[in-house]
Amino acid sequence: MSVRHFIRIWDLSKGEIEVILSRALEWKRARKYLNKWEGKILALIFEKASTRTRISFETAMLRLGGNSLFLSKEDLQLARGEPLKDTARVLSRYVNVVVLRTYAQETIEEFAKFSTIPVINGLSNQFHPCQVLSDIMTIIEKGKDLYRDKIVWIGDGNNVAQSWIEASAILGFPLTICCPKGFEPSKDLIKEAKERFGAQIEINHDPQTALKEAQVINTDVWISMGQELETEKRRRAFKGYTLDTKLLSYAHPSAIVLHCLPAHRGEEISEEVLEGPQAVVWDQAENKMWLHMALLDFLLEQR
Ligand code: CP
Ligand code: NVA
Repeated sequence: MSVRHFIRIWDLSKGEIEVILSRALEWKRARKYLNKWEGKILALIFEKASTRTRISFETAMLRLGGNSLFLSKEDLQLARGEPLKDTARVLSRYVNVVVLRTYAQETIEEFAKFSTIPVINGLSNQFHPCQVLSDIMTIIEKGKDLYRDKIVWIGDGNNVAQSWIEASAILGFPLTICCPKGFEPSKDLIKEAKERFGAQIEINHDPQTALKEAQVINTDVWISMGQELETEKRRRAFKGYTLDTKLLSYAHPSAIVLHCLPAHRGEEISEEVLEGPQAVVWDQAENKMWLHMALLDFLLEQR
């Protein structure tokens, strides 16, 4: 059997996602530590900064009984031009699973092509699949119904939004994406989601109507890592999309607010909303660790 990777949400079936989510929720309830993967090693190769993804994967591996190695790209021979395909084959001989955080999605795909161990996407310019699995875990934990409650993404049609589209398609729940014109997620991705899975994706450019009756509201930075040169242009384009108390008042009164963090207060979200009673961002951040435990366990079990 060929090795399983998790490079995008569509690498898992609906049933597999449900298994991972229920294991993560169960382990969180029991505050689990396991010795199941003693002696196994996780490597993390990151081209971009990270607080949550890095630390939650490292602590997840420790909680499973294993160990982890953090490798920034600059410390590896990769920085001096050693081909990715050589690095992938060498690492496969030393460790058991690897998480990559890169600019290009193709970097992770190329690595996976030559890797004989599972490869996990810890964020690329195109996708952030692990984030969306732990966001869904948070939505379930907070008692919201993915299939009946209105789920809205407000802000940039970025990497996290694109993984939300894949999740909506494979799990079969409707998703509203509210963004300024010109900042929509990839049209090709939406087309594929509709054609392959019959996905119900609504693109809306008016925050007030998009948020009407929303039960789950998700947002993220306007300027993702690598887009710093577009800062001023983006700040102008996203005017009116700040999730503040006024905008939040259009949503259902019991709506929850998610943000994958780091947050830029005063841009995509106001201080009051981020620190207010409807925000669930600290549980959301914690859930990354439990979800990553369940994901690592699932991928290691496939070996
Ligand atoms: N949410 C998230 O991926 O955070 P980091 O960039 O800190 O890993
Ligand atoms: N969209 C953000 C997510 C950070 C976790 C970025 O790519 O920078």
